Amino acid sequence: MTTPRRAPGGFPVVGIVGGGQLARMCAGPAAELGITLSVLAEAPDAAAALVVPSAPVGEHTDLEAVRRFAAACDVVTFDHEHVPQDVLAALVADGVAVHPTPEALRHAQDKLAMRARLGALGVPCPRWVRADTAADVTAFGEAVGWPVVAKTPVGGYDGKGVRVVASAGELDDWLERAAMAGTGLLLEERVPFRRELAVLLARSPSGQAAVWPVVETVQTDGICTEVLAPAPALDPDLGSRAVAAALRVAGELGVTGVLAVELFETVDADGAPAFVVNELAMRPHNSGHWSMDGAVTGQFEQHLRAVLDLPLGSPSPHAPWTVMANVLGGDYPELYPAYRHVMARDPGVKVHLYGKGVRPGRKIGHVNVSGADLADLRERAGHAADYLRGVVTE
Ligand SMILES: Nc1ncnc2c1ncn2[C@@H]1O[C@H](COP(=O)(O)OP(=O)(O)OP(=O)(O)O)[C@@H](O)[C@H]1O
Ligand SMILES: [Mg+2]
Repeated sequence: MTTPRRAPGGFPVVGIVGGGQLARMCAGPAAELGITLSVLAEAPDAAAALVVPSAPVGEHTDLEAVRRFAAACDVVTFDHEHVPQDVLAALVADGVAVHPTPEALRHAQDKLAMRARLGALGVPCPRWVRADTAADVTAFGEAVGWPVVAKTPVGGYDGKGVRVVASAGELDDWLERAAMAGTGLLLEERVPFRRELAVLLARSPSGQAAVWPVVETVQTDGICTEVLAPAPALDPDLGSRAVAAALRVAGELGVTGVLAVELFETVDADGAPAFVVNELAMRPHNSGHWSMDGAVTGQFEQHLRAVLDLPLGSPSPHAPWTVMANVLGGDYPELYPAYRHVMARDPGVKVHLYGKGVRPGRKIGHVNVSGADLADLRERAGHAADYLRGVVTE
């Protein structure tokens, strides 16, 4: 196994389990701060393994591989939430500093645990139930109205593991799988939301927290495609309540590192703006990519500071607006030739590509653009992302 090479001067090694784009985007800030990264990568060509010299290959489910990896790190954190609890418990027993802690992370790993805990904290959620049988599904659908949203409690991402169903029969396969795994399914009412919002914050083990402005996230086919920072025309009271709820969740769950709280904006019975929580993520999050270029402290730097229990940086935005557009894989595998056009057309656009192979619909990069005219920024970000994925050619 490669040993991470520590910088002289007392600097730490931060280990990240998982070598995806989130680990990769920590590399820039880590280099700037003199912090060494080590990544437990899925493969030698994983996104982060291409830019981090210490990137041993190993499975996040392989206890011994994770243990050996962690032994060379001062702190261990994550690129995704899929590391099993027994592996996390073994690290803690070995004396490894794990951030977020397994107990906090549980609420981002298991959507049923998340719903139960948020409910206990009095944080607004959609109506939900755990379903183990077709009869459970039918009873819930009849109680809240069809269609309902079914979710696999563990292991979903980018809308995989989310299904909108109009009858119990549409869940036969999932119910069977859930019964075998003993996990059950999460059912939620389908929320008639106005739009989707996210609160992103970082919290350190000492309890310091810093919150970025609330953003609007736009999803297409269950995948985030655009983020507007801050959320346009957000009711200030709604914004404060959402931030207060996110801070409370972070404090009560003892979250360390970056926490994303995905929200649905709704209207209450009196027509006033309201929200319910969709889900939690405890790592840098797509809704925070704008902060790399649009805020004094980007989420990747802040995550490193937080897991190292360093004082946090300012989350203040640099500009009135920043728009992030995701680059999803299209049909065209050659990405670099597009740089000439994108960069020449708009020198203000910041391009971030992840070194990932193109597969249709896969998140392979994003662009950020900041300024004062939101409509103009959306057009520019959208054009650059579309050009990079090959859906526009001029
Ligand atoms: N109860 C609901 N009512 C209406 N729409 C929903 C509901 N739950 C989820 N959705 C839609 O599906 C999307 C994906 O759901 P969710 O965030 O739970 O799944 P995920 O696969 O874990 O997501 P991610 O893309 O964040 O990894 C949401 O962003 C939203 O657009
Ligand atoms: Mg989500």
